[in-house]
Amino acid sequence: MSSLSPTYPIPNPLFDEEQPFFFNPPEEGDDQLPLKEIPGSYGLPFIGPILDRWDFYYNQGRDGFFQARLDKYKSTVFRANGPPGPFMAKNPNVIILLDAVSFPILFDNSKVEKKNVFDGTYMPSVNFTGGYRVCSFLDPSEPKHNALKSYFFNVLASKHDNFIPVLRKNLTELFDTLESQLSSSKEVNFNPISDSASFNYVFQLFCDKSPAETVLGPQGNKTVDIWLVPQVIPLVTLGVPKFLQLVEDLLIHTFPIPAFLVKPKYKTIFEAFSSSASSILEKAADFGLERDEACHNLIFLACFNTYGGLKVLYPSLFKWLGRAGPTWHANLAKEIRGVVKQEGGVTFAALEKMPLLKSVVYEVLRIEPPVPFQYAHAKEDLVIQSHDASFKVKKGEMIFGYQPFATRDPKVFENPETFVPYRFMGKAEANLKYVYWSNGRETEAPTVDNKQCPGRDLVVLVARVLLVEFFLRYDTFTCEDEVFLVGSKVIFKSLTKAGS
Ligand code: HEM
Repeated sequence: MSSLSPTYPIPNPLFDEEQPFFFNPPEEGDDQLPLKEIPGSYGLPFIGPILDRWDFYYNQGRDGFFQARLDKYKSTVFRANGPPGPFMAKNPNVIILLDAVSFPILFDNSKVEKKNVFDGTYMPSVNFTGGYRVCSFLDPSEPKHNALKSYFFNVLASKHDNFIPVLRKNLTELFDTLESQLSSSKEVNFNPISDSASFNYVFQLFCDKSPAETVLGPQGNKTVDIWLVPQVIPLVTLGVPKFLQLVEDLLIHTFPIPAFLVKPKYKTIFEAFSSSASSILEKAADFGLERDEACHNLIFLACFNTYGGLKVLYPSLFKWLGRAGPTWHANLAKEIRGVVKQEGGVTFAALEKMPLLKSVVYEVLRIEPPVPFQYAHAKEDLVIQSHDASFKVKKGEMIFGYQPFATRDPKVFENPETFVPYRFMGKAEANLKYVYWSNGRETEAPTVDNKQCPGRDLVVLVARVLLVEFFLRYDTFTCEDEVFLVGSKVIFKSLTKAGS
């Protein structure tokens, strides 16, 4: 084991199940809190939203935008304009939530409505999805939501036995590619390798064949990117130099990119899924769904929800583990190799017996939730509570939770900005109720009546298997990371093979 010591406190003994490593937050639901006016303002019409938008993308940056207002109003609940603003959004006025106590109002479907808010204050044209409002844009009160989500649960259950074997084969290719590129170059950008592998996995899982065997060809994920990017680009900045910021702002934050520009690419994607996913598309009728609508929904589920999420999650896992350093790599490798040997392979049961690995994956999802923004409209006049006050919200007002602040709430997590690999081990597992990455508490489950991600368990599984395969193969690695669109770019510098 390396002599490098981590920069955070290690409990002693290291993995004592009985030791509550972390501060257990106070119980919620104190109804004695004083009722306060929500601080903040929207500024002048049009001008206020533009100023907020420039603060968000250019002057203050994403975290800086929220932190500056939190400091100014001394409140984790305040009013501001959400990005992107005019003319993308009809109404950019939102109530922002930044703490772990107020945030879960967004999960209470009896109090909030989640219709058409998947991307926030604007909604991309339905022409990106064959003219349908796909599941992610539906409120649970809409009957179609129930039908589609039931169908997805059924599809996922039918693929359960393939989750691990298909992924392991896919990851072998991923690491072969990474290793071979790193043997001929000093550094390798992980993101394109990761994107290609995760798309191949998703396609293989749902369609039982490689995208290379279809009209999508071997670079299928690049076709998908062209369809995906115009839908989410209003939420990011490409990091252009100062003199180009105005141009960027006009091009990507002001008017929606029309769906017809990517129609030919979408047609190719549709053709590939429609001709390859027959076995699961045939089941759609059992849920009262037309094949066509099911196929557009399946594409969104595979290419936006899953591939879009993994695009952020894979680099994020290596970013945080890279920063954690070789001592933690050695700890993980020891746990993983021991359990795999004892269980005779990488199985669902084996993965359950790896407490450090489980904690590491949850800690990454806590410190950097891959989908950082959640939105909803108040269904009725309601009261929102933060740690120290309650606030009245009027029916119809839009609520905007910035999740990275809620899951790095210092009143809930000790050293919230620090990546602590063992944070959720032992008794501290109870604190998973404050992990919200799936649009619900990690201790609760997705159902047809809520908006929690139905891929929740699959995502956690994929992240665990990714690290298991990695540490079966390598002892340690080094990488650098930088901010990239909604997530991070990871550049691998070295890989040390197991036992070398
Ligand atoms: C890293 C990967 C993923 C992340 C970070 C993620 C995250 C999320 C989040 C935050 C939401 C709620 C959005 C909102 O309404 O505000 C959501 C919804 C959804 N996700 Fe995931 N997801 C991932 C992977 C998956 C997978 C693997 C599937 C299915 C195979 C999936 C299917 C869906 C669907 C269908 C919804 C809409 C749920 C509903 O309408 O009730 N996602 N996801």
